[in-house]
Amino acid sequence: MSEFSPGLAGVIADKSAIGFINGTEGILRYRGIRIEELAEKSTFEETAHLLIDGTLPTRAQLAAFDAELRSLRGVPAGIFDLLRSLPTSTHPMVALQSAVAALAGHFPHQDVTDRKKNRTAALRLIACTPAIVAGFDRIRKGLDVLQPDLALSHAGDFLFQLNGVVPDAQETRILDMCLVMHAEHGFNASTFTGRVVGSSLANPYAVISAAVGSLSGPLHGGANEEVLEMLRGIDGVGAVAEFMQQRIDGKQKIMGLGHRIYKVKDPRADVLQALAEKLFAEKGSTPLYDIAYAIEQVAKEKLGPKGIYPNVDFYSGLVYDKLGYDVDLFTPIFAVARVAGWTAHWLEQLQDNRIYRPDALYTGPDDQAYVEIDAR
Ligand code: COA
Repeated sequence: MSEFSPGLAGVIADKSAIGFINGTEGILRYRGIRIEELAEKSTFEETAHLLIDGTLPTRAQLAAFDAELRSLRGVPAGIFDLLRSLPTSTHPMVALQSAVAALAGHFPHQDVTDRKKNRTAALRLIACTPAIVAGFDRIRKGLDVLQPDLALSHAGDFLFQLNGVVPDAQETRILDMCLVMHAEHGFNASTFTGRVVGSSLANPYAVISAAVGSLSGPLHGGANEEVLEMLRGIDGVGAVAEFMQQRIDGKQKIMGLGHRIYKVKDPRADVLQALAEKLFAEKGSTPLYDIAYAIEQVAKEKLGPKGIYPNVDFYSGLVYDKLGYDVDLFTPIFAVARVAGWTAHWLEQLQDNRIYRPDALYTGPDDQAYVEIDAR
């Protein structure tokens, strides 16, 4: 029996050639390439190819991959009917999880031994996720669902299907960068969830819907929504010191800070912060950024010694907020990106699969007699 590690901290659960993280030096690489470089130079489509097929594509490979993704963007009408049946107050992550699971009814995929068919399912999941998120957002607002515009890039079409307006190049590029930065992150909770579900040879839609459910929690992807709510609840920069002291004294978590692996600032937080600063320089700043910055300074002093620094969710919400996205779409946008990593991990899991079945340290009662119901 190996040592008990709560939360599986430090446990090596499998081998993977997809994402590498060095938490003490703040390094993240997708298949060996630094995240800062990918954020600056790559696109979501190219990054998805890197994750799924393992290499940076040639021009011809990228064109073929992109064309295949575009051809798979169509979401069956029945999925939108399902979304229409949900209360409009349903959180978009719940809607996404339901819709992704239901795709299995439209694209039956019980046999996961065919690699080509698996790769197509992976690309379909990447291609359909933006349309589902955008479709539900329009349904809940009483608007018509839009057909994808196949002339637009992945990020551009997502914004088009959401807003009904072709986005400008700057907004498309910013979202594209955000998608690249959120696409993969090793054995995080949602990716691990997906791998666990995949290890039972469940269909890919079951795998990804389970991963969506895992991402929705506030300790994982849901933190980006909580960060913005937290910043909105603080009455200016002058109130930050007291807010932080209260949280620290009360042993309450400050959203967007801390990470299981990073003990320094998350490299994605640096890129997102620079992106936020550039955006605010062009479009006008927001008092929320000043509050966030002040929180980071206090955190550096008071929580830095414990290795608690901003993570990816700390600045992403500020960027999305400035671009005018609804707060409850922040985590679904994370899912639109991370589905590339989830599906890459699912394909990798199937290459050398063994079902995940850890053990538990039993803490219940020992051998007990069964007591008849009238005698209890
Ligand atoms: N604010 C204040 N203290 C924090 C903290 C935060 N955001 N994150 C961790 N800590 C403290 C804990 O209180 C704990 O202190 P203690 O040892 O004195 O009890 C210590 O750091 C370890 O925290 P723990 O929750 O056990 O770490 P973890 O590795 O299990 O959890 C997170 C990692 C990400 C879940 C955790 O840092 C967190 O909840 N952060 C806020 C939510 C968030 O931003 N999530 C997005 C992650 S990308």
